[in-house]
Amino acid sequence: MSRFGIRKRLRSALGVGRRPVEIIRYPVTYVLPDGGEQTVQAEEYYSLLMASQALPAPIGTGRRAGGTCPDGGCALCRVEIIDDSGLSVMTDSERESMQALAEGKPHEGRNREPGDQPTPTSRLACYAKIRGPGARVQVLELFDYDSVRGDPDGT
Ligand code: FES
Repeated sequence: MSRFGIRKRLRSALGVGRRPVEIIRYPVTYVLPDGGEQTVQAEEYYSLLMASQALPAPIGTGRRAGGTCPDGGCALCRVEIIDDSGLSVMTDSERESMQALAEGKPHEGRNREPGDQPTPTSRLACYAKIRGPGARVQVLELFDYDSVRGDPDGT
């Protein structure tokens, strides 16, 4: 970096240098557990889970504070895909994560009960990335904000 930021100022004055990154957004429709629908404009490369922050509540992941697990191994962010237009393809680790839950394999050092078998349309919301328009997703569970509010009476 030059002294007093002269290079930066010169580039700015001449209109050269870094250009702002163009953010591309695509419509994604979420069918909510109550049957309602909401279409959000999701940034390209966002996961279905990240983009679901625009819903009344994000997709539930079974975590008390919401959000993703650190290793992509919980498989609790499962959704059913109605239309996979614009979504990334499933990876082996996504498939293995769903299968591990279905078989009840331990996760994060904890035993767990076998979960539901994935269906041909199952995806994990933290794996599936938005790459184009047109995805339509059945959300099985939204995050429950009441789970973090605590008891208002303090009892
Ligand atoms: S949040 Fe754990 S696999 Fe998606």
